[in-house]
Amino acid sequence: MEIIAWLLIVLLAVAALSLVGTGITGACWLPTPIPELKKILEEAELKPGELFVDIGCGDGRVLIAAASMFNARCVGVEIDPLKALIARWRVKRAGLQDKVQIIRASAMDAPLAGADIVFVYLSHQLIDRLAPKFAQELKPDARIISFGFMVRGFPLVKADAGKKWFLYKMALGQNLNRYL
Ligand SMILES: C[S@@+](CC[C@H](N)C(=O)[O-])C[C@H]1O[C@@H](n2cnc3c(N)ncnc32)[C@H](O)[C@@H]1O
Repeated sequence: MEIIAWLLIVLLAVAALSLVGTGITGACWLPTPIPELKKILEEAELKPGELFVDIGCGDGRVLIAAASMFNARCVGVEIDPLKALIARWRVKRAGLQDKVQIIRASAMDAPLAGADIVFVYLSHQLIDRLAPKFAQELKPDARIISFGFMVRGFPLVKADAGKKWFLYKMALGQNLNRYL
């Protein structure tokens, strides 16, 4: 009986660390504030049917907003198995399984071909590692929204007054960046 109690405590501790700290995967979780989401997606001019990819999708809130408010097709990539599970559960609860797919994978393996908008709320180190992948895999007219950090090497199209999020368009970046 005592061993079961200890096992439960360890499991709960791992789950708590995974959700609020760096957890077992080294990936921390700071969700995008829900009230800001609609405004950001409006500013990015997300259209019905567009393919929206959230790299590091956490609990899936950005995808749920994109699918439910803008009728977008969505893919979320999440390295942390627990957050991926929570995101899948939230998508199911919202009845959006036909519009939102959650993939448990590393950001570097995110499928970007065909994406119209890529959303990232990741560390600037990881964004720097992803930038060559963006240049190589994204369509020329794709847009990138970055919450929290700028994406180096891509010219800025829009940012909010408080510089909390930044919008980029691939076509503008292709002649300027040095990744290819
Ligand atoms: C700041 S949170 C943002 C979550 C969500 N996009 C949002 O805006 O609410 C960053 C998320 O990226 C995930 N993450 C961190 N490093 C990752 C990596 N290398 N590959 C995939 N996901 C990663 C974390 O587990 C976390 O859920």
